[in-house]
Amino acid sequence: MENFIYYTPTKVVFGKDEEKNVGKLVKEFGGKRVLIHYGGGSAIRSGLIDKVKKSLSEENLFFVELGGVKPNPRLSLVYEGIKLSRENKIDFILAVGGGSVIDSAKGIGYGIANDDIEDVWDLYIGKARTKKCAPIGVVLTIAAAGSEMSGSSVVTKEDEQLKRSYNSDNSRPRFAILNPELTYTLPKYQIACGIVDIMMHTMERYFSPVGNLEITDKISEGLLKTMIKYGKVSMEDPKNYEARSEIMWASSLAHNGLTGCGGKGDWATHQLEHDLGGVYDVAHGAGLSAVWGSWARYVYKENPKRFVEFAKNIFEIEDNGSEEEIALKGIEAMEEFYKKLDMPIKISEAGIILSDEDIVNLANKCSNNRSRTIGSFKKLSYDDIEKIYTMAR
Ligand code: NZQ
Ligand code: ZN
Repeated sequence: MENFIYYTPTKVVFGKDEEKNVGKLVKEFGGKRVLIHYGGGSAIRSGLIDKVKKSLSEENLFFVELGGVKPNPRLSLVYEGIKLSRENKIDFILAVGGGSVIDSAKGIGYGIANDDIEDVWDLYIGKARTKKCAPIGVVLTIAAAGSEMSGSSVVTKEDEQLKRSYNSDNSRPRFAILNPELTYTLPKYQIACGIVDIMMHTMERYFSPVGNLEITDKISEGLLKTMIKYGKVSMEDPKNYEARSEIMWASSLAHNGLTGCGGKGDWATHQLEHDLGGVYDVAHGAGLSAVWGSWARYVYKENPKRFVEFAKNIFEIEDNGSEEEIALKGIEAMEEFYKKLDMPIKISEAGIILSDEDIVNLANKCSNNRSRTIGSFKKLSYDDIEKIYTMAR
C-alpha cells in the first residue's frame, strides 16, 4: 500500500425530501448571502429551484440566481458568476444540479476567494495554485461525476476548446443533499452516461500499478458489481427507488477517494475524454465508454493479471484459457455492458468522425503539445495517445 490521505469533509444528507432542509444546512455552514447556481432548466421545470428558494427564504437568507450552466461547463459563465457574486457580496455558493453545475460553482468559489489571482483559468492550466475556495453546498440531481464529494473542478475554455481540471481539497462541498427521487426526471441517455462515469471513477483507480490492495480492491469490486446490477434495473425501471439510491450513493463513493486508498490512479481514459469533450462537446460518460476499450487493449500487457482479476471478479469469466484470453474477455464483457446501456464503444458511435488531422490535434492537446505523459498503469506519451485515439475512432 502506498501512503495516502483520506479526507472526505462533505456532510452527506441522503433521502427523500431532504432538499427542503437546504436553508438550514447553508446556515449551519455559515452562509448568509447565497448564489444559487443551476443548469439549463431541468431544475426549474421540476420545481426544485422553487423549493430551494422557499427553504432559503424560511431561514431569512439573501440569495441571487445564476442559471445556464451547460454540460462541459464553460469558463465564460464562471467569470459571470464571479462578477455577480462580487457585486452581491456572496459568501456561499449553492450548486443545484450535476457535475457541470458543481464544477462551475467551484470555479466561481475559487474566483471570489482569491482576489490575488487575476484569472481563475490560471488554476486550471497550472499557472497558479490556491488552497482557498468559497464554501459550496450541493443539491444533486444526477448521479454521475461525483463532484458532490470530490475536490475536482473541470471547466472548458471555449475559445481554445480546452477542458481542464483543478484539484484542491478546499473545494470539496461542505454538504451534499442526495435525494434519489430528484434523478427520476433524467433522460435514459444521462442515466447511462452517469453509470459509465461512476464505474470509470472506480476503474481508473482499480487499474493501478500498485500491487495487491485487498480492502480497496474488494470495495471497488463491490461497487462495480452493484453498478452492473442496478444499472440494468434503473435503465428498465427509471423510477425504481432502490436502484436510484444505490447508484446515487455509488456516485459519491466512487469519487471521494475511497476506492483509491493505497493505490495510484491511472486517469488516462479521463484525460483522453477531456480533450474529446473540450473539442467536440461530447457528454463525459459517452466519451469515456468510447475510448476505454481501446485504452484497455493498448495497456493490458503491462499487467495482464490485473485484467484477469477484473474479468473474473466483476464479470465472472471462467478461469480457463491463457491470461491473455481471460483479460481480453473481461474487456469485451465491459464493452458489452456499455452496449446494453446504449453507450458508444467507439468515437464514431458518439457521432464524431475523426480524420488523421483531427487525431493529431487531439493528441497534441492531450499531451500538452508533447510536454506531458498521461496514465500510470502504463505511462502514455504523445505517440501512445495518438495510437489509442486511432484505435478508438
Ligand atoms: O442543464 P440541465 O437542464 O439541468 O440538464 C442537465 C444536463 O443536460 C441534465 N440533468 C441533470 N439533472 C437532471 C437533468 N435532466 C433531467 N432531470 C434531472 N434531474 O443532465 C445533463 C448533464 O448534466 P451534467 O451536470 O453535465 O452531468 P454530469 O454530472 O455527468 O457532469 C458532467 C461534467 O462533470 C465533469 C465532466 O467532465 C463533465 O464536464 N466531471 C467532474 C468531475 C469532478 N468534478 O470531480 C469528475 C468527473 O470525472 C468529470 O470529469
Ligand atoms: Zn468522470
